[in-house]
Amino acid sequence: MIALGCDHGGFPLMQEVIAYLDKQGLEYENFGTYSTESCDYPIFAKKVAQAVQEGKCDKGILICGTGIGISITANKLKGIRAALCHDCFSAKATREHNDANILAMGARVVGPGLAIDIVENFLNTPFSGDERHVRRIQMIED
Ligand code: RB5
Repeated sequence: MIALGCDHGGFPLMQEVIAYLDKQGLEYENFGTYSTESCDYPIFAKKVAQAVQEGKCDKGILICGTGIGISITANKLKGIRAALCHDCFSAKATREHNDANILAMGARVVGPGLAIDIVENFLNTPFSGDERHVRRIQMIED
């Protein structure tokens, strides 16, 4: 189950992500926002981060204008590793090395084609499980 959240700036790109997830038959829970009306991104970042933290969802996707505010907020919650990615290499590497559990993107930074490739890389790349990466992730929490 994938938790989805965005603000008004991220709303248009989130519709593209939802269309992609539907096409792939992937399950998601959409925590809003649900329109382009101005809103506060921390509300939606916290909802998604909490769903992942509690294990209700195994991954999350957050989108705001830049991806910055929404990722800063999500990373305040213990156990959340939100990675702001605007390229496919980073999306793949953050899964392999950081076991990132939330992908953040900026709708004003990337176009829909690249964004969907980033989502694909994020969702389809497993954590490497290498001892050094497990150790470093543990060190983030300590
Ligand atoms: C909203 O205008 C914008 O500030 C927000 O989407 C995001 O970019 C914040 O980091």
